[in-house]
Parts: sequence; C-alpha cells; structure tokens
Amino acid sequence: MTQNFAAIILAAGKGTRMKSALPKVLHEIAGRPMLGHALAVAAEAGASDVLLVTAPDQDAVRDYADKQDMTLTHAIQEQQLGTGDAVRVAFAATDKHERFVVMFGDTPLMRAEVLAALANNDADVTVLGFEPDDGAAYGRVKLDGDTPTAIFEYKDADEAACAITLCNGGAMGLSRAALEKYLPQLSNDNAQGEFYLPDFVALAHQDGATTALVMADPEDTLGVDSRAGQAKAEALMQARMRHKFLDAGVGMQDPDSVFLSFDTAIAADVTLEPHVKINGGVSIGPGTIIKAFTHLEGVTIGENAQIGPYARLRPGTNVGDEAKIGNFVETKKADIGKGAKVSHLSYIGDAELGMNVNIGAGTITCNYDGYNKHLTKIGDGAFVGSNSSLIAPVTIGKGAYLGSSSAVSKDVPDDALVVTRAPEREIKDWGRKFRARNEKKDK
Ligand code: UD1
Repeated sequence: MTQNFAAIILAAGKGTRMKSALPKVLHEIAGRPMLGHALAVAAEAGASDVLLVTAPDQDAVRDYADKQDMTLTHAIQEQQLGTGDAVRVAFAATDKHERFVVMFGDTPLMRAEVLAALANNDADVTVLGFEPDDGAAYGRVKLDGDTPTAIFEYKDADEAACAITLCNGGAMGLSRAALEKYLPQLSNDNAQGEFYLPDFVALAHQDGATTALVMADPEDTLGVDSRAGQAKAEALMQARMRHKFLDAGVGMQDPDSVFLSFDTAIAADVTLEPHVKINGGVSIGPGTIIKAFTHLEGVTIGENAQIGPYARLRPGTNVGDEAKIGNFVETKKADIGKGAKVSHLSYIGDAELGMNVNIGAGTITCNYDGYNKHLTKIGDGAFVGSNSSLIAPVTIGKGAYLGSSSAVSKDVPDDALVVTRAPEREIKDWGRKFRARNEKKDK
C-alpha cells in the first residue's frame, strides 16, 4: 500500500534543444504528450495530488494538464533557477501532505513501481540511483555503505566524484520536514549558479536526518531534451508495449515493425502482421488478424475479424465479429456489422452496415456535400454490386441488391433489385471499321 503523497512534477525547462514551437513536455511518446505519461504514472503510483511546476509562458502546458482527470495545483516558476528552486515554488503552493515525490515532466519511461518505492520509503530524502553505461553529465551519488551522503553535479565534480558509477536519476522522495528545513538552506554557489535539488542529500546527511537509495533501470530515468532523445524514448516505449502484448498472447511476426499507441487494447490470439500502425483509441478483439500495412485510429474491432492488408480504418469505425475489411479500403465513422465484407478498394464513411452485408469492389459512400456529412444505412444481408456510388442520405433495405455501377440516391426497399446503369449498346463491327478508317488516313 502506497503512503499518501503528492507528486511534484518539474516542467518549467525551456526545452530549446527540441527546436520547436511546442513546449517540450507536450511532445508525444506513443501518441501521448510526455506530461501525460508523467501524470498517468504519478496517478498509478498512488499520488493523491499533483503540483505542476511550469514557466510563466507555458499556458499550453497548463491547459493540457487541466484537461486531465487529476487533482492538480499549478506552481509557476518565474525564472528557471534550478531544480531546487522549482521544488521551492511547488512546496509553497501546498500546505497538505507529509510525503512528496519529485519527478520530471520529460522522463516518459518512468514506471509507477519506481515512484511508489520513492514514496513508500520513510527516509527524509530518498535518492533514485541508476548505473548507466555512460555516466555522461549525470550527478554522482556518494554512498557510505548503502546510505547516500551527497550528490555531486557533474559540472562541480572533481576527478574522484566523476569516477563514481552510481548516478542520480533525478526523481527524489522527500518528507515535509526535509522540505521545510532544507529548502531555505539551498545555495546557488556552484558551477551552474543554480539551486540544486540534489544538495538535499548532503544537507540531510550532515544534519543527521535519514537518507536512502532506491534503484531504477537507466530507461526509467531517460530524460528527453532533443528530437534524437525523443526518438530513443519512443523506440524504448514501443519495445516495452510490444513485449507486454507478446507476453499476453498477441502474435507478431516482426514486432519491430508494429507501432502501438499508449492506450492500445489488444486481446490474446490477435495477430498483427508486419508494418501495422496503430494510433490512439484502438481496441481489437480475440482471434482477429490485422494484415500488413494497415493503419488504425479510433477503431473498435470485434472477434475473429480480418483487416487489411493495406486498410485504413479511421476514427469512429466499429467492426463487428467475423467481418472482413480488405485491401485499399478506407472507413470513417462506420459501423460494419457482424460478418459483413468490404473486401476491396472502397470508401465507407458515415455509414451503418448490417450483418452479412457484402460491399463490392470500388464502392463509395458519397457522404459529403461540401457542407454536411450524410448517413448511408445498409440493411442486413444486402448486396452492393461493384463500383456503386451510394449518394447519402440513403438507405438500402435488408436483403436488397444493387447492380454493379449503380449510383443510388433514393432509398431501396427490402429485397428489391436496383440497377441505375445506362443501357448497354452493341454496334456490330465498329472496331474493324474504325481501324480501317484510320489506317487509310495514315497512308
Ligand atoms: C538533473 C540532476 C542530476 C541528475 C539528472 C538526471 C539537478 C541539479 N541535477 O540534472 O543530478 O543526474 O537530473 O536526469 O537536479 N526544471 C525546472 N525548473 C528549473 C530547472 C529545471 O522545472 O529551474 C525541470 C526541467 O524542465 C527538467 C527537470 O527539471 O524537466 C530537470 O532539469 P535539468 O536541468 O534538465 O536537470 P539535469 O541536467 O537533467
């Protein structure tokens, strides 16, 4: 059981290396802004409150956070004077909570169990340590036995400190008592002229307060501060999600070519063929096969359905059990009934297809008149011949047939046959005469 705690999320950094008009923490990993990942993991770890530190010009970040379903208090850091200063601003915004976990808004791979371990430790200051392959510019954690006694920021570290392989992961667990006592004691007399949160460790240790260490994987602490860093975090997140689904019984011939969204829901016994791209809001029922080069977004798919190859299912599509959507088919806002087939080269938008409807190749729902979208309804068991245009609003009755190449704008009763194609003419010997005429001209 996690102790009651507040998460302090630091997100006031400028993120200049992203070279983007979008604030860094709103850049996405697996289809969700990095800040969304931070908020979700804080909630999952059991945070009862979030204190979000942003810069004055980050309205977009605050707007995004306000739209999430969380108890959240804003703390605005006027100037970015360091992580210690950011925590000071956050702490000034609350008089509740006995325990706090400081975390960063730009570490999207942080796991809830790691934050929970920081929250659950009773020490005044709990350091998150990790052992990277390359220590790079991380702070170094000095230990006495298992107990952290100081953190040296890389720019301030002497040779002996640089040789330490245990690095500071950035996040930290803190008691209210530690915050009350050591925040006023932080100094910016250091290489970067910043107030360092890691200085809490030496202050607490020298004061006889308790310090502790929790270990994380390097992945958990990976901070994104460039596009390359974002791409690395995306790759790691995708790998994490693919493994989760493989373990849960989802088949993938080439997992590395399948891209998932943070909220993807896939049942056991689904097969994802290579080069499938799944965006937000997709759920797939058991036994369904998603064939190669298919693109899904905002789609619910039932059991034992077959989708693709090369299908594009857009938001608002619901595919029933055992239905089949074939190659070069685009759907949008469409209910496809149980056992229905849309096998080739069709656009089905703003449509309701009943059970076992068969849509011939090249069928188009003409759903848009330039101002409004209109509905096409097709009853159970109806058969739409190839190359038909369904000019919405229009209803095709149950068990009705449309002859190929029909352009239908009037409702079709149940079981009727409608054919709108022009009568066929035959002109005997036309080809022979045409060639003869033209060949004579050439001479
Ligand atoms: C920090 C740690 C370092 C650790 C590393 C792990 C400090 C001083 N150093 O360094 O020991 O190894 O994380 O990644 O804490 N932020 C604010 N306001 C500020 C400054 C920063 O909100 O005034 C936010 C940033 O937006 C960022 C986070 O705090 O999300 C970390 O700040 P950053 O300056 O990137 O610290 P690091 O150099 O990573």
